[in-house]
Formats: sequence, structure tokens, C-alpha cells
Amino acid sequence: MKFLTALMMVLIAATTLFAHSGAVPDTGKEAYLRYCVGCHGTKGDGKGKGATLLIIKPRDFTSGTFKFKSTPLGSMPTDGDLMQTITNGLPGSAMPAYPLMPEQERKAVIVYLKTFSERWAKEVPQPAVVVPPLPDFINSPDSVTKGKDVYANNGCAVCHGDEGDGKGVTAASLEDSWGSPVKPRNFKRGVYRAGGSPVDLFRTISTGVEGAPMPSFGHLSEDDRWNLISYLLSLKGGRK
Ligand code: HEC
Ligand code: HEC
Repeated sequence: MKFLTALMMVLIAATTLFAHSGAVPDTGKEAYLRYCVGCHGTKGDGKGKGATLLIIKPRDFTSGTFKFKSTPLGSMPTDGDLMQTITNGLPGSAMPAYPLMPEQERKAVIVYLKTFSERWAKEVPQPAVVVPPLPDFINSPDSVTKGKDVYANNGCAVCHGDEGDGKGVTAASLEDSWGSPVKPRNFKRGVYRAGGSPVDLFRTISTGVEGAPMPSFGHLSEDDRWNLISYLLSLKGGRK
């Protein structure tokens, strides 16, 4: 028992040491080389062997730019955001979910992927966008009608289409900041990278999608944003 306690102390000390020296626990690199390298590449540049086959390209970690996060445009994501991406995957893309990977390993892989960009050493993530409590009117017919107007008045249709099917006039020509084609989301499918709950959608609409042409709509009133969400959710399952 004493031995175990001593061992624990050494392990805890070692972890603290890693945290302070910026060194990477081997487990993070090992997990990366086992699970992530095939898509994200040995250099973290998104050029793994499997990447050529994918239309939606794996993230290039050397750029330090992340799309799906709780922080404002221009800010690094929080560890919680990266944890969410790794645990839940990015539905609608090839990025798998790793809910069964032990939490320690997921944390270690996050430390490792931060070695690919210098931004991590220089910048701290800004505070996350605050999501207010879910209002009672969410998904009500009145909220859907109001949301349809907010959608029409804020130019969503130019990219996402009048019907919300992702086929707006600009859709075929949009690129992300890495020069890869990127399609606006089809709301009729109802599949969202950063989660499809009202709370997830409130966050995404407020932050925008960094590195993609999806702007931030954080300037809209909270009610407008919730009504928009009622409208988007009402489209799910509609004619594709
Ligand atoms: C089968 C290919 C594949 C594998 C394996 C894979 N990824 Fe990804 N990953 C992707 C793709 C594709 C994207 C970009 C999706 C998009 O932009 O819509 C991505 C994006 C990401 C992002 C960026 C999310 C953002 O906000 O921009 C992170 C972080 C990430 N992956 C971590 C990992 C980690 C860690 C592993 C291993 C445990 C891993 N990925 C394994 C394909 C993969
Ligand atoms: C200039 C084009 C453009 C406009 C305008 C635009 N979007 Fe987008 N939107 C995109 C693109 C492109 C994506 C996909 C980003 C990606 O996957 O990298 C997207 C993605 C989304 C997503 C999905 C994020 C996820 O987690 O999968 C939501 C929700 C969304 N947009 C809502 C809206 C709403 C609501 C409006 C109007 C208030 C709007 N967008 C206006 C281009 C646009």
C-alpha cells in the first residue's frame, strides 16, 4: 500500500513536471501515432495517407486554426472544445468519435497535438461564448415563423439556400482557409459537426466557423438566435 502511494506521488509529480516543462507524455504521442496519424499525418499537417481519399480534409494542426469551438473568432479553442471533438467526433465528416479512449489518453493526445503549432505557446483561449438558458418558446410554431424571417433577413440563404438544403447560389464556390471546397450545411439532414442540440446551435451561430465562410451571428439578439434555431430544427427530415 505504502509502495503504491509512493508510486502515485511519483506519477503525480511527473505529470506536474510535464505540465511545467511543456514536455509531452509518451502516451499522447503513442495514441496519436496509433489513432490519428492516418488522417492528420506524422507532422500534424493533415496529410496522412488516408487524407487524399477524403473530400472534407482532416485538420492541419500546424495552422493552429480550429473550426468548432466555444470561443470567439480569432481565439484558440479550449481544452474542453478539443475534448468534445475527440470524444464525439465531427458528424458528417470522416473524423471519428473516440468515446472509449480512456480520458487520460484523450487528454494526453490533446497535449501532443498542441506541439504542432506555435500558437499554443503564445496564446491563451479567450472566454467561451455564454449560452443563456433555453427559452420556453424554443421550437414553438410562432418561434419557427419568426426564425424563418431572421433567416431571410440575414443572408443565410445565399449559402444555405432558400429551402435550407445547403444549395445557396454561392454554395458550389465556397472554400475554407486551407483552399479546400466547403459546403454549407444542409439543415434538412440535421447533421451537425459541433452538435445539433439548441444549445450547441446557439454556440455555433454565435461563434461562426473559423477558417470557413460561415460568419458569426453573435450580434443578433438572443431571441433572434433562438428563433433561428427553432426554424433550422423544423427543417430536419423535410424534403432533401
Ligand atoms: C479517418 C480520418 C480521421 C482520423 C482517424 C482522425 N481524424 Fe480528426 N479530423 C478528420 C477530419 C476529416 C477533420 C475535419 C472535419 C471538418 O472540418 O469538418 C478532423 C478534424 C479534427 C480536429 C479539428 C476540429 C476543429 O475544431 O477544427 C481535431 C482536434 C481532430 N480532428 C483530432 C483528432 C484526433 C486527436 C484523432 C485521433 C485520436 C483524430 N482526429 C483522428 C479526420 C480524422
Ligand atoms: C457566406 C456563406 C454562409 C452564410 C451567409 C451562412 N453560412 Fe452557415 N455555414 C456556411 C458553411 C460553409 C458552413 C460549413 C462550415 C464547415 O463545415 O466548415 C456553415 C455551417 C453552418 C452550421 C453548422 C455548423 C455545424 O456544427 O455543423 C450552421 C448551424 C449554420 N451554418 C447556420 C447559419 C445561419 C443560421 C446563417 C444565417 C444567420 C448562416 N449559417 C449563414 C456558410 C454560410
